[in-house]
Amino acid sequence: MGSSIAIDGPAGAGKSTIAKIVSKKLGFIYIDTGAMYRAMAVHMIRNGVSGDDSAEVEKNIDSADISIGHEDGEQVVFLNGENVNGQLRTEQVSAMASKTSANAKVREKLVELQRKQAKTTDVVMDGRDIGTVVLPDSQLKVYLTAGTRVRAERRYKEMIAKGENCNIDEIEADIKERDHRDMTRENSPLKKADDAVEIDSSYMTIEEVADKIISLYRETEKK
Ligand code: DC
Repeated sequence: MGSSIAIDGPAGAGKSTIAKIVSKKLGFIYIDTGAMYRAMAVHMIRNGVSGDDSAEVEKNIDSADISIGHEDGEQVVFLNGENVNGQLRTEQVSAMASKTSANAKVREKLVELQRKQAKTTDVVMDGRDIGTVVLPDSQLKVYLTAGTRVRAERRYKEMIAKGENCNIDEIEADIKERDHRDMTRENSPLKKADDAVEIDSSYMTIEEVADKIISLYRETEKK
């Protein structure tokens, strides 16, 4: 096993931005597990599967060959050999991923892939169940949160910057619904691992959070 830092938390808490900075500073590989669930969702959408129909979802898992690589420090996700990075961030994919990631068989397949990655290299891995299920022996586990309104504001600003039409109250309602689904699902729900350090990023800058995680990691190295 390489060294690992597990970062879990709800959508919009800043996990991926911070995990990227931390991994670069430590020379670790960044693994975005949400992107794998998103790639599986792309596969389900392409096959016309309803995310609510678990039998249909399960019938279509084996035909999804998902793998990841890295180009210029960025994670690239391949679905049946095709780079699907450009297709992972649509609302349709987010909604499908939120449903299909609750499926135990989908999780089993992707958790295996995630553990394989962490076996051979030092990783910063982010997701919902990294500290609790995927890498329970991580040197450092972080549970990164932020208030729902703060997360909605961050998403709102991103969408406005891209010239998209949006409503902050709708974004906040959507975030609450997704949190609820992630936290109450039967399989690997989002929760803080007992030995995770909780960081509330609501009123911290990205750099402050990244520095905090790096100093926590340095502490673990001294032990
Ligand atoms: O972090 P994200 O928004 O890209 O994740 C996409 C979906 O996958 C989201 O609904 C949560 C789910 N997910 C999960 O269940 N477990 C993970 N380790 C990562 C993401």
